[in-house]
Amino acid sequence: MALLDNRQFTKALKQTGDLVEVNREVDWDCEIGAIVRRACEMEGPATLFNSIRDYPGHRIFGGPVSTLRRAAVAMGIQPTASTKEIFDQFYQRMQNPIPPVLVAEAPCQENVVVGDAVDLTMFPAPMVHDGDGGRYLCTWHFVVTKDPETGWVNWGMYRVMVHNERHMGGIILATSDAGKMKLKYERMGKPMPFAIAIGPEPVCAISAAVPLPANIDEVDVAGGLAQEPVRLVRCKTVDLEVPANSEIVLEGEILHDVEVEEGPFGEYTGYRSGPRAPRAVYRVNCITWRNNPITVISNMGMPVDEGQICYGTLGVGSGVRQALEAAGIPITGVFVPPYGAGNLIIVGTRKPYNHIATQISQIVFGSRAGMPANFLIVVDDTTDVYNIGKVLHALATKCHWRDGVMTFPAWGNPLAPFLSLRERATGRGGRIVLDCTWPVEWDPEAEKPVKSSFADIYPKELQEKVLRDWHVYGFE
Ligand SMILES: Cc1cc2nc3c(=O)[nH]c(=O)nc-3n(C[C@H](O)[C@H](O)[C@H](O)COP(=O)(O)O)c2cc1C
Repeated sequence: MALLDNRQFTKALKQTGDLVEVNREVDWDCEIGAIVRRACEMEGPATLFNSIRDYPGHRIFGGPVSTLRRAAVAMGIQPTASTKEIFDQFYQRMQNPIPPVLVAEAPCQENVVVGDAVDLTMFPAPMVHDGDGGRYLCTWHFVVTKDPETGWVNWGMYRVMVHNERHMGGIILATSDAGKMKLKYERMGKPMPFAIAIGPEPVCAISAAVPLPANIDEVDVAGGLAQEPVRLVRCKTVDLEVPANSEIVLEGEILHDVEVEEGPFGEYTGYRSGPRAPRAVYRVNCITWRNNPITVISNMGMPVDEGQICYGTLGVGSGVRQALEAAGIPITGVFVPPYGAGNLIIVGTRKPYNHIATQISQIVFGSRAGMPANFLIVVDDTTDVYNIGKVLHALATKCHWRDGVMTFPAWGNPLAPFLSLRERATGRGGRIVLDCTWPVEWDPEAEKPVKSSFADIYPKELQEKVLRDWHVYGFE
């Protein structure tokens, strides 16, 4: 399968019926955001805006991977594949990384400006949501930084807002890989060089949104997802590399001695993050871009969008599954449902002993990917983790009101909407585990309730007859 760059991706989406082109002029000031948001909430198609007020010659591509169907297209998988099939493919491919290749010339460097000529306002950064702290140029992109001690390079998707012609600001959590590197530069009294690739190959952006363990190269994982190496090119002014087919590349340094207020912004939890606060400042020294650049945006908010699909379902889901498998837990599945907003994790297990839910919770919430989530539902192997209706049924009928519910204090995710402002600011939160499995000692005949379902209470021969004759009875 060929690695799709952003433009091939839009063509592929058009063919599968997952893209709408808007040719009438639209406004960068919230109109584009409102259209993309509505499409996300309808689980509708992505949008390519061909005419933008004040920006002749520019286009905006919105909601690139806000459905699993589009994640499938990005990986060259049939979009009609089931959730389980797409997730299993993703999981298998991310564990078979392919290193990148370096190229000398790149479409993303067709145009170059440096120094005083840099003007970030030349791109149609949209006002994504009404009430955002400003115009966000970077919402489907990644930030490239290098560890000053080990030389390891990280890609991470962290939102970035335009302050003025040369400066931008964004949230870089201390728990993120870039946050840990930034701290090292600060201790050295140095700014952190960065490159930002906007609108890269979709697999690159997906990989950058996945909370991989540190020292795993996102570029190799992106190659694994596409089953083909990503083509990288050296940046013009920093010792970093970016995907050669990115739409726009920003190069510069993240300042070590100053913060400027940024935010709020709509977040993957489904709410506006808050409040506006002093955050990292990016000084841009060079911009390179493809001819007729397409600015790509994600509009995070109520499900379903890239926040829940790429970060939550694919990212948190795969990281948690890896951690549980590494610990030898007999799992039957892991699912981070999009409507759980990356905050709710479902784990299925063949329960060999009581309190395995406790052990699972310690691994899940102790893992890199599971740490920011708050809720864990553990079901047994009679419940399909991908079937939310069945999971709800297990929760409502198998979770003991006292013994099945466990809560404990833990690091408070600053984006957790149910925490008070003070709890968010001081990192004080907690976790909730719901054990929806029967106790192992329950007698299957006397104590364990028999499931009153077609598959459980009728003799096998009768089930087969009913299935065989289903149409004969008159059912479609
Ligand atoms: C559209 C989108 C926007 C995101 N914005 C942020 C952000 O502003 N800050 C952040 O810490 N994580 C953000 N994330 C989640 C990170 O990309 C994710 O945690 C990733 O693993 C970070 O990279 P790292 O593991 O190398 O630190 C975002 C994810 C998506 C899909």
